Amino acid sequence: MNEKLSQMKPSASLVFMTRAKEMQKTDPGVIGLAGGEPDFATPDRISMAAMRALTEGDTHYVVGPGIPELRKGIAKKLREENGIICDENCILVTPGGKNAIYLAVHAILNEGDEAIILDPAWVSYEPIIQAAGGVPVHVKLDNRNDYRITEAALEAAVTDKTRLLIVNYPNNPTGRILHEDEADVLEAFLLRHPGVYLLSDEVYERIVYDGKQSLSMGARPAVAERVVTVNGFSKSVAMTGWRMGYLACCKEVFQAAYKLYQHSLSCMSGFMQRGAVEAFKCQREIEDMRAIYEQRRNMFVGILNSIPGVHCTLPEGAFYAWVHYDVKGMDSAAICEYLLEKARVVGMPGTAYGEYDVPSMRFSFANATDELETAANRIKEAILALYK
Ligand SMILES: Cc1ncc(COP(=O)(O)O)c(C=O)c1O
Repeated sequence: MNEKLSQMKPSASLVFMTRAKEMQKTDPGVIGLAGGEPDFATPDRISMAAMRALTEGDTHYVVGPGIPELRKGIAKKLREENGIICDENCILVTPGGKNAIYLAVHAILNEGDEAIILDPAWVSYEPIIQAAGGVPVHVKLDNRNDYRITEAALEAAVTDKTRLLIVNYPNNPTGRILHEDEADVLEAFLLRHPGVYLLSDEVYERIVYDGKQSLSMGARPAVAERVVTVNGFSKSVAMTGWRMGYLACCKEVFQAAYKLYQHSLSCMSGFMQRGAVEAFKCQREIEDMRAIYEQRRNMFVGILNSIPGVHCTLPEGAFYAWVHYDVKGMDSAAICEYLLEKARVVGMPGTAYGEYDVPSMRFSFANATDELETAANRIKEAILALYK
């Protein structure tokens, strides 16, 4: 057996999502907030376009890195919405953003190369780096400093083996967006270290609140050549099950990633790509979903913050409540298990994202509003019971 894989951790979010599904078989009242899955249906025009393509017989191999209409649409979107000028020939359509990250990391790293991850971080970066033979280097962002990126933290981690830095904004799990001064820090870092690529995971980029806007490092001309932008349709267009994502990068990274793609995937499904083309005409639907997430955020986080010993900074983007606890004698795992048993609410322990300093949990608020309200009230009742 491959030793690298036998040592790899399973995806914690998939483990907790499965656990919620198992519990729901005997107790349908269990509320699963562990995954990151919009409860909305994919907008109709996307599904209709895919069905049309299917009935027209678009069911064969579609040789290439993505159908031209879709790659053109992505290039236009990146240009107009994100300020990223990317040749459509350097856009690779992938099965989800996750696979785009997998391909890009494999394209960039050699055995033993180091890749910096900023904790708390999404659960799959570390295993993907390890699968590519790379060495994950964790930079712990400080919760007391609102998880801000600092030059000192990056410089303490960089070595002559560093080839990659991965950032993710809007962030899963913290909900922070990238601020202009932090983008300046990243740009200066890349300029000081010309052998380092930046992978910018922007899968939540359309889900931002309070009129704020997500920043793209690929829009900074001085470093754009070394920025790999990853995005997709799962989160912003409620298309998780379609497995549609993409990466936009320089020619060198594209060519390496596309080779691995040819030998592992061959191509994406044609009829699904024809559906995804329609996503660029769904601005209203995307905005409607975003606005509902904002209402849910306000309600859910509002109830959580009314609980003594519970603190949640209002997320600026994505759809996660990142909760810190000050509950005597309980760490992240203990609180997570307690809420699972007592409140019948399944969330994720903060340790899954590398937060060990403060007891914490992540809850998705991409569920139905009434379900979220019930979950928040049950959490409140369960925590209050601890003080009795
Ligand atoms: C930060 C982050 N990046 C990438 C992904 C991958 O999403 P998908 O493969 O569905 O596009 C996820 C999904 O949960 C995520 O949270």
